Amino acid sequence: MATVELKQIKKTYGKDTHVVHGIDLEIKDQEFLVLVGPSGCGKSTTLRMIAGLEDITGGDLLIDGKVVNHATPNEREIAMVFQNYALYPHMTVYENMAFGLKLQKLPKEEVEKRVTNAAEVLGLTTYLKRKPKELSGGQRQRVAMGRAIAKDAKVFLFDEPLSNLDAKLRNEMRTEIKRRHLHDKRTTIYVTHDQVEAMTLADRLVIMRGGHIEQVGTPMEVFSRPSNKFVASFIGSPAMNFFNIDVEKSGGEFFFKDHSGNMKFKAPQHVKEFIGNRQHLIMGLRPSDIFIAHDNDNIPEEWKFDATIEIVEPLGKNALISMSIGSELFIGEIMGMNLPEVGSQVKVSFNLVHLSLFDCETEKSILV
Ligand SMILES: Nc1ncnc2c1ncn2[C@@H]1O[C@H](COP(=O)(O)OP(=O)(O)O)[C@@H](O)[C@H]1O
Ligand SMILES: [Mg+2]
Repeated sequence: MATVELKQIKKTYGKDTHVVHGIDLEIKDQEFLVLVGPSGCGKSTTLRMIAGLEDITGGDLLIDGKVVNHATPNEREIAMVFQNYALYPHMTVYENMAFGLKLQKLPKEEVEKRVTNAAEVLGLTTYLKRKPKELSGGQRQRVAMGRAIAKDAKVFLFDEPLSNLDAKLRNEMRTEIKRRHLHDKRTTIYVTHDQVEAMTLADRLVIMRGGHIEQVGTPMEVFSRPSNKFVASFIGSPAMNFFNIDVEKSGGEFFFKDHSGNMKFKAPQHVKEFIGNRQHLIMGLRPSDIFIAHDNDNIPEEWKFDATIEIVEPLGKNALISMSIGSELFIGEIMGMNLPEVGSQVKVSFNLVHLSLFDCETEKSILV
């Protein structure tokens, strides 16, 4: 059982280097929470304050309802895995995993039981006598995780633990971490700048920027209902396309026109009530909601626009197609093997059910 609460947590270095600006967050028991955001946005600093490795400048940190601002890392009963999983080079895998437990003065049998158990869980049993230099990168990362698991902590903290691994290993370890969590349901806070890692692992995501929280939600919530343009562009790959739109009102309907003057269409019914008096909007469309129309499909002609194919990037079962309509450049994700030629003219259409709309000044979503 472990909950973690951040109440107006702040971090300031020196007099006026404000790095974390008073964030509020509740991590539920057994939850897998991911902090994600661009480099330098304050993820590690936040995690290190939770771990007790960094002083908290302001606010309260609670673990299981108790304020622990001044508790030592050990008293907080947390285990942390870093990007640079520094193992002791002269110690065996077993000794590396046992080291922290011995420092805690646990009985020898208890240490042995925990290390053996952690090794089994992570598939390290046959490597216990090896030294770190006799292991692959992935195995070393497993030892670092084993060290954390053996600690039997209340809360697991991960800071970009997979960043140093190659792509294949990163995917394997990601699945491994998810499987571990499904199995033991330990409350986990995981930091990454990688949105794919964030989406695949998280029960809930926290998107940070410049020491602030931009949005908290399940992966599907932040993907389908980004609260602002930053979140919309950060989550999802390839990124959402944005169009500057002029709004025209006539006969009780709204019409959206792009700035190049090549696109004009009726705003879908479900967004009408949110437009208000705005004359300009930013429209967001995911690549997966853009498709190439054909002569005999059932799409009305007024929903089809002339586009030029600029770049074709086949990925196997789908392809990324960069297209232009006038001066608007955007990317569509097209399924199937039948790919258009670069330079050819096509008709494109949009699935407007999933469209996002942002205010031009605040860049906040207007669809609330
Ligand atoms: N000891 C420090 N003194 C001053 N500024 C720091 C210190 N440590 C980190 N920072 C600054 O705090 C900001 C957030 O850093 P960090 O939490 O490491 O970001 P992230 O983990 O999201 O990449 C960065 O701008 C960084 O330069
Ligand atoms: Mg960091």
